[in-house]
Amino acid sequence: MLTFVSMTKNEASMGRTVALVVAAGSGSRVGAGLPKQFRRLAGKSLLAFAVDHLIRAGIEDVRVVIGPGQEEPYREAIGARPLPSPIVGGAERRESVRAGLEAIAAAGGAERVLIHDAARPFLPGAVVRRLLDALETHEAAVPVLPVVDTLAHCGERLGESAARDGLVRVQTPQAFRFDAILAAHRAWDGGLATDDSQIARAAGIEVAIVAGDAALEKLTFEEDFVRAEAMLASRSVSRTGLGFDVHAFAPRRDLWLGGILVPHDQGLAGHSDADVVLHAVTDALLGAIGADDLGGHFPPSDPRWAGASSSLFVEHARGLIEARGGRIDHVDVTILCEAPRIGPHREAMRERLAAMLRLSLQAVSIKATTTDRLGFVGRGEGIAAQAIATVRTWEDL
Ligand code: CTP
Ligand code: MG
Repeated sequence: MLTFVSMTKNEASMGRTVALVVAAGSGSRVGAGLPKQFRRLAGKSLLAFAVDHLIRAGIEDVRVVIGPGQEEPYREAIGARPLPSPIVGGAERRESVRAGLEAIAAAGGAERVLIHDAARPFLPGAVVRRLLDALETHEAAVPVLPVVDTLAHCGERLGESAARDGLVRVQTPQAFRFDAILAAHRAWDGGLATDDSQIARAAGIEVAIVAGDAALEKLTFEEDFVRAEAMLASRSVSRTGLGFDVHAFAPRRDLWLGGILVPHDQGLAGHSDADVVLHAVTDALLGAIGADDLGGHFPPSDPRWAGASSSLFVEHARGLIEARGGRIDHVDVTILCEAPRIGPHREAMRERLAAMLRLSLQAVSIKATTTDRLGFVGRGEGIAAQAIATVRTWEDL
């Protein structure tokens, strides 16, 4: 049988860009506690921010280097993101990068590598594009920013000032032709290196410069975290999502509404527990983050969801929001039915929904109305529910 190869070998390898995120440090300058790369800003770890930005910039293959014994905080920090197992790094950044490069080489190598600090959570996609463009003509490229403050030597007191002309601050990600940086690391004499461009230059590699970005600043001290939180807050946007669902009454079924078993002479027809309220809430949450809809995430054809508690769906949507660093502010529901009466169950539903969403009671509202005996609801053929959710997320960089 003939096989058609649609790409030349060269085109195929062009796509092999790997991002190596080093996250094996101890964050000693921030102080004791969880290493900084695993700490959270607005509910999302620095490492997860860095990884998400690389993926959003089009780098599909992201490898993370962690320190020995950091498997547990790594898992917590990375959540459900489908990444390959982390690589174990060393006592110095250089050793962590080396371990990462060797692991990539052992797995078949790459064409290009972007080496990035997990401690730099905000990575504008434009920087990645500039770096990859520069790699077309150079073996290495780094993002830089000008030095704006006066530079001076310093002991007990201020010493001589130093000329800042021609000096820049070098950031990450740093982009390299993979084979070149691997050879440079292998040839390094073992001295201290705070980044990979030093190691590249020592091996005679010319390093191109592209414009860096203030957002890429590394978080090093406690006050950097305060500033990063404020920066995120200033980019906070509020989005609302709308959900609507209808289920027909069916005999010999339990009636689940808002996560509560409501005594009634019939239940609702449906694949799962048919909780029309939770379905509307799930769709409202998904809508607020532009993440498809209930049927897209939980196809009715999937036997796994037969008879499933719809609280699973709500919790899944909440997880998606949290994974993006978002927060649910408020959920409001209207239930449309002639019977049963919702009033007696309203507070129990609110409490159940608040628990599912991890919200306070004030942030959850349940209302009910009849439709004046009009339409399918008025004829008692089923129950409809509407929900609206307000979610705070962050503008992409
Ligand atoms: N890093 C690493 N392996 C090390 C040391 C550092 O992978 N042995 C990583 C850090 O996790 C961080 C990046 O290199 O993402 C930049 O290092 P730095 O800001 O110095 O982080 P830490 O070494 O963790 O912090 P500190 O120097 O304050 O202890
Ligand atoms: Mg360090």
